[in-house]
Amino acid sequence: MKFLEPLDLQGMVIPNRVMVPAMVTRLADEEGWVTQEIQDRYVRYAKGGVGLIVVEAMAIHHSNAGPLLRISDQKFVPGLAEMVKQIHGASDSKVVPQIIHFMKISKSGWRQTVDMLSHEDIDTIVEQFGDAVARAREAGFDGAELHAAHAYTLSSFLSRRNMRKDEYGGSMEGRLRILGRVVESVRRKAGADFPVGIRILADEFITDGSTVSDSKLIALRMAQLGLAYISLSVGGKFEDAEHAAGQVPHPYNGYSGDRCMPGAQYPAALHAGLTREIKAFLNAKGYQVPVAGAGKISDPDDAERVLADGSMDFVGIARGLLADPDWVLKVARGEIDRIVKCDYCNVCKHLDGAHKKVVCFLWPKGMMQAPDDNAQGSAPGWPNGSANLRVGLNGDTATLQWDKAEGAARYDVYRASDDGDVVIEDAVKVTRWMDNSILGGLTYRYYVRACSASGQAGAPSNVVMIKPDGPSVERDREADRAPAMA
Ligand SMILES: Cc1cc2nc3c(=O)[nH]c(=O)nc-3n(C[C@H](O)[C@H](O)[C@H](O)COP(=O)(O)O)c2cc1C
Ligand code: SF4
Repeated sequence: MKFLEPLDLQGMVIPNRVMVPAMVTRLADEEGWVTQEIQDRYVRYAKGGVGLIVVEAMAIHHSNAGPLLRISDQKFVPGLAEMVKQIHGASDSKVVPQIIHFMKISKSGWRQTVDMLSHEDIDTIVEQFGDAVARAREAGFDGAELHAAHAYTLSSFLSRRNMRKDEYGGSMEGRLRILGRVVESVRRKAGADFPVGIRILADEFITDGSTVSDSKLIALRMAQLGLAYISLSVGGKFEDAEHAAGQVPHPYNGYSGDRCMPGAQYPAALHAGLTREIKAFLNAKGYQVPVAGAGKISDPDDAERVLADGSMDFVGIARGLLADPDWVLKVARGEIDRIVKCDYCNVCKHLDGAHKKVVCFLWPKGMMQAPDDNAQGSAPGWPNGSANLRVGLNGDTATLQWDKAEGAARYDVYRASDDGDVVIEDAVKVTRWMDNSILGGLTYRYYVRACSASGQAGAPSNVVMIKPDGPSVERDREADRAPAMA
């Protein structure tokens, strides 16, 4: 499989093309120190053989932001260095920190925007990025990633919604200007041979925001600046965030946030078309800088397809790897069946928004890390072999129920509509599931599998089928057809 092949990112050779993109864990303490829990989280990805681990956004300055890692002072280097040492000790995964600057924001909903920054502020930010990347190098990271995506400072400069009237706004070159200065500062302070990648947006998904037409040019400039890789995300903006009274606005609860961390209702690999367009543009201009994308890629077939069709050079799998950090190992061993599949319920996203410790809903209750892999563990099963799965129609909703299986941590619910592929629709911890997305006139088949905490899936249950009535017009058509078919 192509995604299991190594890739050279300007001398940082990642052992496979699977990246866990930055995901804030809220496991740092309020001052931004590395904790045992945060270290365990990243060592876990290394043990699972993830090619490139991007450690969650860490700030280059001291502004308040709840529990968020910091790289804003020399005093944070030893803690970060110990974490990197543990990660390197666990496997040949490569590890980079995501380096972030964000602006001020308050519970009233007020927020600082780039047009409020003075020239002095900009100079400070530029130097702080350079200092932070130099500290990352000192801490032993294999490279660094500049965070120029979502709602944060660099992304806000790049945005069409940048309202500055001076040389840092207006034109495309103006919006790009600070990035050029940041990269120069990083090179000067951390060395030109230290691999530095960047995360930018393929589309902001906000009214009057930047689209893929802008992103192609932004990506091209990043390639011209010689960055080691370009990681593409989308959305995650304050402009359309819903503000709950008395709470700090969260840039992931509007539509753009929805696109950034798409829930169960969105299709798989939904942003691959955008990354394909940007990568093709870069290649046509003569740049081969590796490109990655993310967004509901966790099926190994999807991961392979987006590499094979030229959508990206390496694959970002965020929530899929949170749910199962052993994804790479399991795929490499051909144990696809044992992957704990993220169902995109977004419990993790909501924990992040509430500044609570981020865990996966599918892990056993109370656990702060994914359960250890246990390839020898036994799969749960139903007493006397029967799940007794049954289905009934409750109005327009199909309701499934089944018996409890011994040793089950959760149940995967599978569905096939008509002759369509079988898809895991959900993962639940109870023995009941409701499907309100069915359409009258189509046939649906379901089965469930009981799974252990480390992913052993038992044999499929009995299959049940339901065909809700279609509209009466359709029923008449069927009646008309019936004699002809007889
Ligand atoms: C809990 C959580 C925290 C995140 N934190 C960050 C972050 O610090 N920096 C970042 O660039 N993206 C962050 N993201 C976005 C992810 O990196 C990723 O782009 C997004 O989840 C879509 O990928 P997926 O569908 O594979 O999960 C976060 C996502 C989640 C769910
Ligand atoms: S909490 Fe839900 S969305 Fe987040 S990783 Fe777990 S299954 Fe996926």
